[in-house]
Amino acid sequence: MVGLIETGISGLDSMLYGGVPKDNQIILAGGPGAGKTLLAFEFIYKGAKMGETGIFFALEEDPKKIIQNAKEAFSEFTDIDDLIKSGKIIIDGNKMISAAFQGAGQSDVEFGSIVSSIEDTIVKNHATRAVLDSSSALELVIRDPQIYRRSMWALAANFRRLGVTSLLTAEIQNPDRKDLIFKPEHFIFDGMIIMYLSGDESRRIRALEIIKMRGHDHSFVTAPYDITASGFDVFSPEAISK
Ligand SMILES: Nc1ncnc2c1ncn2[C@@H]1O[C@H](COP(=O)(O)OP(=O)(O)OP(=O)(O)O)[C@@H](O)[C@H]1O
Ligand SMILES: [Mg+2]
Repeated sequence: MVGLIETGISGLDSMLYGGVPKDNQIILAGGPGAGKTLLAFEFIYKGAKMGETGIFFALEEDPKKIIQNAKEAFSEFTDIDDLIKSGKIIIDGNKMISAAFQGAGQSDVEFGSIVSSIEDTIVKNHATRAVLDSSSALELVIRDPQIYRRSMWALAANFRRLGVTSLLTAEIQNPDRKDLIFKPEHFIFDGMIIMYLSGDESRRIRALEIIKMRGHDHSFVTAPYDITASGFDVFSPEAISK
């Protein structure tokens, strides 16, 4: 049986019945401001605390900003700088993407170089966790939908081969559960977690659902979550009944 990787996120591992299968490639989708970047950061941070090297590929935002936002939201994670210094957490910037934007017109070639550069960084640092934040940045580089789909398939396959468990953040246009529309990459990846914003005009409720996780059973409950100083808190019935 394949081993499980604990995400380290409170409540989420209970919903995942222990964790995610090692080497699974997971889409973390949600609307604007749902907390995709922060949850993905916590996945890398908790991995580092468990001794795993993790790389956060910041394709959209400045790495400094990612670190600053994470420190502000998770004020009890006081050792972020130490883990970065010791190389357990690597926040890799978006030079590749901006270079690709400058050379518009050869998207598949450019994507190839982005992917090989990502893979080089993973291999060089012996990373076992990775985050790509976000797929929208990649979608802007690869405008042809067929090439995009093929490229995402290759990316997931290569990550599996490298023995890396990854989260790819993705935007969804309709963050309400009833309006969900699936995209090709949602079928390509091994797992999918969605962060919803629902409720009425007076109050928005944030909740998370595991849509699929190849090779492993999981909860089908949609569980509310909070972003707290000590990390995400997912209120899964599985965690509460323990
Ligand atoms: N210090 C904080 N304490 C609690 N919640 C915070 C704090 N800072 C930010 N947040 C929440 O986190 C959200 C932003 O999280 P994050 O950047 O991870 O979202 P995202 O889903 O990646 O957004 P985007 O689609 O813009 O990339 C904010 O909208 C806010 O609700
Ligand atoms: Mg984000």
